[in-house]
Amino acid sequence: MTAILSVALTQTQILKPDRPWSKTYDHIVYAVPDFSNPSGKTMSFSRREMLVAIARRHNALVITDDVYDRLHWPSSSSFSSSGKALLPRLTDIDRALPPHPTDPRHFGHTLSNGSFSKILGPGLRTGWADCHPKLSYGLSQVGSSRSGGCPSQIVATMITEVIKSGELQEHIDTVLVPSYGRRWRKMVDAIEGELVPLGIEVSKVSLKDRDIFGGYFIWVELPEGMSAEAIAFSARERENLIVAHGNLFEVYGDEDAVKLDQWIRVCFAWEDEETLVLGIERLGRVIRDSLTGTQKTDKTKTSLNSFKAPLGEF
Ligand SMILES: Cc1ncc(COP(=O)(O)O)c(C=O)c1O
Repeated sequence: MTAILSVALTQTQILKPDRPWSKTYDHIVYAVPDFSNPSGKTMSFSRREMLVAIARRHNALVITDDVYDRLHWPSSSSFSSSGKALLPRLTDIDRALPPHPTDPRHFGHTLSNGSFSKILGPGLRTGWADCHPKLSYGLSQVGSSRSGGCPSQIVATMITEVIKSGELQEHIDTVLVPSYGRRWRKMVDAIEGELVPLGIEVSKVSLKDRDIFGGYFIWVELPEGMSAEAIAFSARERENLIVAHGNLFEVYGDEDAVKLDQWIRVCFAWEDEETLVLGIERLGRVIRDSLTGTQKTDKTKTSLNSFKAPLGEF
């Protein structure tokens, strides 16, 4: 069937209308400026301005994944929501500038991706793009937007009602931010109590002495010489606990640029508070056993089939 179809297409050769591109960019830059996944870092305002300026100078499009920018809370006081992004998005900065002085086809140099996955529910598979009107019109005209098969119209219609009624904002302010804030605090406390005494370092961006924290994740660094992959494997094998080891986030072919083989990423957003503490205690046991040499971390000797259902990803 596929073969017949491709023959038919070759014969007619009408695949796309032949028209010139409205705009092409010479480069694409991808960034997660707020509470970046995986690092947890946030790009400063001055760096945002610099990146927009560089994009304009070199005809680049900066695509930012702004999925966590409303999920942040003060580290010290009660976990209240400001209802806003922490810093202006790169698109806000770009939009505030006058059109490019020499480019007759100014489509802006930034595109902000948003997703309802993090603020309503991952299964919705719906998001949005915020950019210069010419670029967003262009996006609305591509096959994946126009075909009718890709966007989920019913879900989008329901989400529109949830936004219009104010329920989405209320959900972020009264449910997500306070509960993520409490979970984050509970997990940092557990890490400080259980892991830090074992020589584990907490990523600077996750510490309580920062004013604001956000996103979903905390990073911890294991003592010198200890392999995060082996610890993650043992945690799963012996404690029924899933944690993500840093190597998973290295860029294939560019591993030397950022080495993460002693780092573990734990997620505080999914499990409830008591389970988070239990998870850190279990991780502490695995690390302690490894330090005292009582733990076997040779993953080649264990069958993956013997795992019980995992406790959840931390
Ligand atoms: C930075 C970032 N972008 C996008 C996503 C996924 O969004 P979606 O479910 O809308 O594909 C995630 C989820 O982990 C993420 O961390």
